[in-house]
Amino acid sequence: MEPDQPMIPPPNSSTDRLSGKIAIVTGGASGIGESTARLFAQHGATIIIADIQDDKGRQIASEIGNHRCTYIHCDVTDEHQVKSAIDLAITLHGTLDIMFSNAGIFGSASQTIVDLDLNNLDRVYTVNVRGMAACVKHAARVMIERRVKGSVICTGSVMSVQGGKTAPDYTISKHAVLGLVRAASQQLGLYGIRVNCVSPFGVSTPMSCGAFGTSPEEMEVLIEPFTPLKGVVLKTKHVADAVLFLASDDSAFINGHNIVLDGGFTA
Ligand SMILES: NC(=O)c1ccc[n+]([C@@H]2O[C@H](COP(=O)([O-])OP(=O)(O)OC[C@H]3O[C@@H](n4cnc5c(N)ncnc54)[C@H](O)[C@@H]3O)[C@@H](O)[C@H]2O)c1
Repeated sequence: MEPDQPMIPPPNSSTDRLSGKIAIVTGGASGIGESTARLFAQHGATIIIADIQDDKGRQIASEIGNHRCTYIHCDVTDEHQVKSAIDLAITLHGTLDIMFSNAGIFGSASQTIVDLDLNNLDRVYTVNVRGMAACVKHAARVMIERRVKGSVICTGSVMSVQGGKTAPDYTISKHAVLGLVRAASQQLGLYGIRVNCVSPFGVSTPMSCGAFGTSPEEMEVLIEPFTPLKGVVLKTKHVADAVLFLASDDSAFINGHNIVLDGGFTA
């Protein structure tokens, strides 16, 4: 090849793992969802970002390219809005292959079970559990109708598999996300639809920085001592890489699984 010729990767190469796939990313206007939407696009997918941060969502969609990415306002706590977002994929693209149900909020970092405000529990549960369940339900509906052997991925947390000293509302909700994934994986496996979970340790995003009142850099310094694995700090891109794996055919027989991204913390 001449030195000045562009490198065009062959189909199904490492940069083409979602070629032609249609994906929805909830919470795609920020943090883990934003990184994943960008990575999906790099791998050939067409994306709908569903979020409540309209300006940020539209901005990211236009940066990805409006031919490749659409933004829709969708509050996952409202089932009608979830249904509309998923129906938009059918209207625009005729199908839905990948649902990344990722939108979530943190709980009360200062509370323990003793002083738990049950209104906080309701608020966190409504987004993290009810919202995720609505996304899985409606994604499954259209995948089954269209006989799509799709991939559904939910964002859990290390708090899906262990307790913490505070934030019981968040721990309760993230354990429920894993329950949702396990139930749905059994029930949707019948249709060839895979349902899996990614469970990150602390990662610097607007959510975690807001919860602990840190800058992005301070958050990484705060997290580092807890993980047995040294020399690498968890970034949103690492989580996106795991989601890409679960979304792609590289994980064709993986169903009901939980990929914990914690550098060995829960081991
Ligand atoms: N950051 C961490 O340390 C961490 C660790 C483990 C798991 N998680 C999980 O990762 C997911 C993404 O969080 P993040 O850290 O990227 O945070 P983030 O705040 O950067 O992104 C979350 C996105 O979800 C959106 N969102 C919130 N409520 C919504 C609703 N009702 N409807 C639609 N969208 C809504 C927000 O607008 C935001 O764009 C969450 O489920 C979170 O619980 C985060």
